[in-house]
Amino acid sequence: MSILSWDDLDDDANTTPLAVKPAPVKAPQTGSAPLVSATPATEAPVAAAQPARTAPAQPVAGSAVERAAESLSHLDVAPGLEELEMGAGRVEVDDKAMINCRADLNQLVPFKYEWAWQKYLDGCANHWMPQEVNMTADIALWKSENGLTEDERLIVMRSLGFFSTADSLVANNLVLALYRHITNPECRQYILRQAFEEAIHTHAYQYCIQSLGMDEGEVFNMYREVPSVARKAAWGLKYTQSLGDPTFKTGTPENDQTLLRNLIAFYCVLEGIFFYCGFTQILSMGRRNKMTGVAEQFQYILRDESMHLNFGIDMINQIKIENPNLWTKEFQQEVIQMILEGAMLEIEYARDTMPRGVLGMNAAMMEEYLKFIANRRLSQLGLPEQYVGVTNPFSWMSEMMDLRKEKNFFETRVTDYQTGGALSW
Ligand SMILES: [Fe+2]
Ligand SMILES: [Fe+2]
Repeated sequence: MSILSWDDLDDDANTTPLAVKPAPVKAPQTGSAPLVSATPATEAPVAAAQPARTAPAQPVAGSAVERAAESLSHLDVAPGLEELEMGAGRVEVDDKAMINCRADLNQLVPFKYEWAWQKYLDGCANHWMPQEVNMTADIALWKSENGLTEDERLIVMRSLGFFSTADSLVANNLVLALYRHITNPECRQYILRQAFEEAIHTHAYQYCIQSLGMDEGEVFNMYREVPSVARKAAWGLKYTQSLGDPTFKTGTPENDQTLLRNLIAFYCVLEGIFFYCGFTQILSMGRRNKMTGVAEQFQYILRDESMHLNFGIDMINQIKIENPNLWTKEFQQEVIQMILEGAMLEIEYARDTMPRGVLGMNAAMMEEYLKFIANRRLSQLGLPEQYVGVTNPFSWMSEMMDLRKEKNFFETRVTDYQTGGALSW
C-alpha cells in the first residue's frame, strides 16, 4: 500500500490545478453553508526545503476545475433525494415498516427493530478472516497417500464444491434482488453486514481449495456438473430470478408474497437446510481430528449462518405481523411444501455424499437429522411440523453454533475476538 506524505501533496500542488482556491459556490436554496470548504490547501505543512508557494491561481477558463465549480453552483438539493418530500417531518418510529415503507430510508434512527440492530452489532463482534486459520495439518493430511479414506475425500470435495458457489448465490440474492425491497434501514444495515460475511465465506472456501491444491475449475463448477449439488443451486436460483427483474415492485399482495417466498427460500431453505449436511459432515471430521483447519473455517461460517437464519426468521415473522393478509392458508401450504422440498433435496445430497457409513454417520442418520431441522424451520415460521417423531441424532451440532464466549471446539484459538487483524503462524 502506498502512503501519501505531505511532500507528495505539495508536489501535486505545484504540478496540478488541484490546490487552487475553489471558486465561490452559490449557496443552495436552503441557505445552508457552501458545499465546498474555502480553506486553501496551502495551509498544509510545507517541508523547509520546499520553495515558497505563490498565491493560488484562478481556474483556467474552460478547465475541469471551472466546469466542476460551475456545475456545483446549479446544485439543486431536491432531485437527488427523489421520492422524498423535501421539508417532511422527522422520522418517527411508527412511520417505519419492513416493506412498502414511505419513511426516509437514509435515516438509521430512531430504531424500530432493536433485534436487527443487535444482530448487526453481534455480527461485527464475531468478525473473522480465513487467513487466520492454520491449514498446515490439513495440507499434510490431504496430500498424504493414506491420510483419508475415499469416502472422507468425497465429503471434503463435495462440501467445498457446493459451498464455494452457494455463498455467492446467497450474496447475489441479497444485493441484487432482496435489498431494495426491505424498506427498513436497521435491517438493511444487517443485510450489508451479512453480504460482507457471505464474501468472507466464499473467500474461506477459496482459501481451503487453494491451500489443499485442488483443481479449482472442478470444484467451482461442481454446481453445474454434479446433480445433487446442481439441483440445490437450481432450486434456489429460481427465487432470485422472480425478484431480480428490475421492474418488480412490492405493494400488491401477489408481489409481497413473492418477496416472502424469496426470504423463505434463501433464509430458511438455502441457509437453513442446504448448509446442514455439509456442515455436519465437515465438523464431524474435525471432531475426529481430521481436516481441523477446514473444520475450523466451517465452524466460524456455521456461527455466522445461524445468525443469518435467525435474522431471516425474525424478518419473515415481522412481515407476517405487519401484513397478516399475506399469510393465507394457501400460502402457508406453499411454504410447508418449500421446506419439505428443501429437506428432500438435502436428503438426496446426503445419500450422494455418503454412499456408506463414514465418520460415525450414515445417510439414514443424516436423513433423520434433516427431518428434525425441517420441523424446526416449520415451527420457527409458526407452521405445523411435518415429520412425526423424529429426533436429533447430532445434538453436538447445536453446541457448535453458540461459541461466542467459549474456546473454539478444536482448541486452536479463542473465537470471541473483536477485530480482524490477521494472525501470523
Ligand atoms: Fe454464508
Ligand atoms: Fe449466510
